[in-house]
Amino acid sequence: MKVLLIGGGGREHAIAAAIVKSRRVDKLYCAPGNAGIAKIAECVPIGVMEFDRLIDFAKEKQIDLAVCSQDDPLCAGIVDAFEAAGLKIFGTRKNAAIIEGSKAFSKQLMKKYGIPTAAYEIFTDADRAVEYLRSCDYPIVLKADGLALGKGVLICKDFDQAQDGVREIMLDKKFGSAGNELVIEEFMTGREVSALAFVDGTHYRLMSSSQDHKRIGDGDTGLNTGGMGTFSPSPFFTEEIRKVCDRTIFQPTVDAMAKEGRPFRGVLYFGLMLTPQGPKVVEYNTRFGDPETQVVLPRMKTDIIDVFEACMNGTLDKISLAFEDNAAVCVVLASGGYPLHYEKGKVIAGLENFDGKPDLYCFHAGTKFDDEGRVVTNGGRVLGITALAPTLKEARAKAYEAVRLVSFEGMYMRHDIGKAIDDAQ
Ligand code: AMP
Ligand code: GLY
Repeated sequence: MKVLLIGGGGREHAIAAAIVKSRRVDKLYCAPGNAGIAKIAECVPIGVMEFDRLIDFAKEKQIDLAVCSQDDPLCAGIVDAFEAAGLKIFGTRKNAAIIEGSKAFSKQLMKKYGIPTAAYEIFTDADRAVEYLRSCDYPIVLKADGLALGKGVLICKDFDQAQDGVREIMLDKKFGSAGNELVIEEFMTGREVSALAFVDGTHYRLMSSSQDHKRIGDGDTGLNTGGMGTFSPSPFFTEEIRKVCDRTIFQPTVDAMAKEGRPFRGVLYFGLMLTPQGPKVVEYNTRFGDPETQVVLPRMKTDIIDVFEACMNGTLDKISLAFEDNAAVCVVLASGGYPLHYEKGKVIAGLENFDGKPDLYCFHAGTKFDDEGRVVTNGGRVLGITALAPTLKEARAKAYEAVRLVSFEGMYMRHDIGKAIDDAQ
């Protein structure tokens, strides 16, 4: 079968690696892909928002299945567009992708169906938001309603910071139109866990758990990023907590979307906080997490194409999703200056050192070929180095050893990815 994967980040590299492992796939195309994906798929220079060109390409090449797991195209209706053209695609339709596309929608959904989450208020008027903030306890969390590359969240320690935050989001429009509505919510404390599930509209199958590290600096300091590293499984997400989540969060969310006439098909990402009052939802995403995917999919044993099809056909209850009984750690190598200003076009040395090492992956996030055919940096997050091992501790040591295999000017990483694992032992 011929598959077209849409996207070009580290997450897509990990999805591509899972797709080419499928016994059912003969040919994988990726649009636009990147320099790493180009080693396992044929990359085509079409952007993720160019729906007409993607559809023309899929028809011309007689693609059997398209796959999209990126928020912008999903929220803009790429699945609806492919389906309208008579093409098969794995991903979430626009009316369900709103669960990520609008934080106001997802908060209202949780309130309506009694799904545990932080208490909140929604504002469309900056003056009223500031007025409300005078009566709040601190810290408090401000969230731009729409998509903002994972950066539209501000944690404010006092009224002055919060007032500045309202100005940035609602008046200066730091995150563009995403800031037309503002969610102000209670600050929660606890361990964060990412739980990704395949969903077919009615049933879900949970993947192995993971944990992201969103801040740029060691010890969770500095600005929020797209994610600086992950580990899987999370030792904090115990079987007991999973059962609570099944009952209070996972199935209720799938049922709520169906009841709202927005049946969810695709990958539903539950960002959870294990608070002293029990697990609560921090956020939903309508896609695989990045870089969670870089530690979850290398551990998945089930053929990913079978799972995609079951999601599309409503037969996920017939699938038993299996993961290796091992662990993975991913350390992101970023461009110096990220998440603010950084340079691109730096030559990456040592990539060949990963060849023939089955327990190591070098996932490309922001890379491309330059005019001379060299692999150069092309984004803030450049590479994700994933190591597999029998235990989390070993995987962590192995990942930090492996980061030394590559280098580029200005390379930056956190040194404490997975350090939390030590607390669990
Ligand atoms: P989000 O984009 O909603 O995932 O938020 C980004 C990060 O901000 C989360 O991963 C949390 O670390 C933090 N965060 C978001 N909402 C809250 C909250 N209500 N309480 C505490 N931390 C939060
Ligand atoms: N790693 C967080 C996200 O994918 O949104």
